[in-house]
Amino acid sequence: MVEEIITHSAEETIQWGKEFAKHLKSPLLVLLTGDLGTGKTTLTKGLVSGLGAANEDDVTSPTFTLVHVYGKKAKVYHADLYRIESFHDFETLGLEDIFAAPAVAILEWSEKFPLQSPWPLTRVRLEHLGGDSRRITVLDPA
Ligand SMILES: Nc1ncnc2c1ncn2[C@@H]1O[C@H](COP(=O)(O)OP(=O)(O)OP(=O)(O)O)[C@@H](O)[C@H]1O
Ligand SMILES: [Mg+2]
Repeated sequence: MVEEIITHSAEETIQWGKEFAKHLKSPLLVLLTGDLGTGKTTLTKGLVSGLGAANEDDVTSPTFTLVHVYGKKAKVYHADLYRIESFHDFETLGLEDIFAAPAVAILEWSEKFPLQSPWPLTRVRLEHLGGDSRRITVLDPA
């Protein structure tokens, strides 16, 4: 399944994320790809909110903290590997620990490092189309 939409504001991207989240089932790895500022964190606000784990306004970029966790019983992890510079640092992060219990894990810049995950995954690609327009493409596993 390939789904493709174009949004014209951050709010529209958040709204689409909320809708998209309704179709997601834990455990799941969500890989967000796209250049700086395409809206990966913005989309995550919608996803986390749509999954019922937190209010969209409470979702902030984990660029420096690397991993955020939302929700109580049904947890949603949000990680950003952008600032991780070496494979050693990546390993130190212990991201595999997340897989101990079913959850939804949303990753930005995951393409930087190979991650062994036992969970199904979906990839969502975001692209700049000029101004506030973004193309969002859902690439599901084969
Ligand atoms: N259609 C849109 N969808 C998403 N964000 C948009 C859109 N139009 C404008 N924006 C703005 O673009 C910026 C996207 O920033 P965001 O932090 O979500 O990107 P990111 O992909 O996570 O970047 P980074 O790689 O630095 O983590 C925000 O300032 C947001 O308001
Ligand atoms: Mg981000």
